[in-house]
Amino acid sequence: MTRQITIDPITRIEGHSRITIQLAEDGSVQDARFHVTQYRGFEKFVEGRPFYEMPGIMGRICGICTVSHELASAKACDEIMAVRIPHTAASLRRITNLGSIIQSHALSFFYLSSPDFLLGMESDPAKRSIFGLAQTHPEIARDGVRLRKFGQEIVERVAGRRLHPQGIVPGGMADPLTEEAREAILKDLPEIYALLHRTLDWFKRAMEDYHLEIRTFGNFPTLFMGTVDRAGRLDLYDGKLRIIDERGKRVGDDFDARSYQDFLGEAVEPWTYMKFPYYKPLGYPDGIYRVGPLARLNIIDTCGTPLADQEFAEFRQLDRSVVLSSFYFHYARLIECVYAVEKIEDLLNEPDIFDTQVRAHAGPNSGEGIGVTEAPRGTLIHHYRVDDQGRMTWANLIVSTTHNNLAMNRAVQQVAHRYVDGNKLTEGMLNRVEAVIRTFDPCLSCSTHAQNQLAMRVELVDASGSVIDEVVRG
Ligand code: MG
Ligand code: NI
Repeated sequence: MTRQITIDPITRIEGHSRITIQLAEDGSVQDARFHVTQYRGFEKFVEGRPFYEMPGIMGRICGICTVSHELASAKACDEIMAVRIPHTAASLRRITNLGSIIQSHALSFFYLSSPDFLLGMESDPAKRSIFGLAQTHPEIARDGVRLRKFGQEIVERVAGRRLHPQGIVPGGMADPLTEEAREAILKDLPEIYALLHRTLDWFKRAMEDYHLEIRTFGNFPTLFMGTVDRAGRLDLYDGKLRIIDERGKRVGDDFDARSYQDFLGEAVEPWTYMKFPYYKPLGYPDGIYRVGPLARLNIIDTCGTPLADQEFAEFRQLDRSVVLSSFYFHYARLIECVYAVEKIEDLLNEPDIFDTQVRAHAGPNSGEGIGVTEAPRGTLIHHYRVDDQGRMTWANLIVSTTHNNLAMNRAVQQVAHRYVDGNKLTEGMLNRVEAVIRTFDPCLSCSTHAQNQLAMRVELVDASGSVIDEVVRG
């Protein structure tokens, strides 16, 4: 018996996906899986194109993560050209990256997830959206819109355009910073600091009502990976990769991201298009790790900016050594926003920020380039090979969401075991299964390198393999 119920017009995750919950004979949950059902291969389709076109082309993988792809791509191109980009260019890339992370975190936190915290996991799905919030919590909805716009405007002011900016180029940036752009951003900062302060305030209080979710939302030991600078501080643009275990101990030395293939393997499963990266020395699937805001706050020694470090000290008190619950991704996102605003202010106050030398010019001088940066959702790797003419012969991308694939699947299992019972999908159960996925803020357009479309299907399958309940959102 198959039934289809449409509950909600918006899935609140990016891309095309499906969750299957498999029941045993006695009706208890046996297994649960998160599938990604779309595929479009950018890696193949760029072969034969000149390398310098890559930032522009790769930026189109995703409308949300454009800047991250452009940055990782431009960094891979810098290596193919064998140049070191001017210091000011690196600072402008950093500011653009931070603006992009703020807009993405604002989208994830306010638009996609805050309705759950403010209206409740069981609330009417028709109202559980940013539009519903505009009615019940207008100030918070306004803050979400404002923060997102602030991030978008930074990208626009520093890199040229809001969507698919053209300022990020191989060798640096296309244009230097203007005085107007700097002034406009600095003028907004007091308002944005205040906005983040009050957001952290209500969110910390709201978390007190979510003990059960905190306990069951992807709360298990894994490794964590992210980028740190030489002093072990948070760095969202460049540095070494650090992996820690569930007790907070470093697993090996911090390593050069260019050697990612020595550390990270990619497993394939027949039931999904998304690959399963794992930490090679531990094998598959024991080498499960998480990336993104939660991972980054777990691996660092400090953020390196005063306000973020105050929040970070509080965050670290949540758990004995490492913060394991994926529910805290939300909290980590807000702390990263504070860090990003402080860092943007620092960078805009660098004495050489208006320097007009922002681009190194060169042809292809190396057959290979690896560009790695921290995207909103975690470590992003672009790896290219070119021929003597600089034409692409091979590309490999490991996108942030993909690193989290094993953990997202395990998190769905954990929530399904806790909340799903019998053969009927209820709204509260369904929303929690989705909500645990939203903690990771997956970008499915990115991870399948597929086009942006919104739809998600949840299937409940009985022991004989028939679908007994199904919900489509999209
Ligand atoms: Mg790939
Ligand atoms: Ni994306």
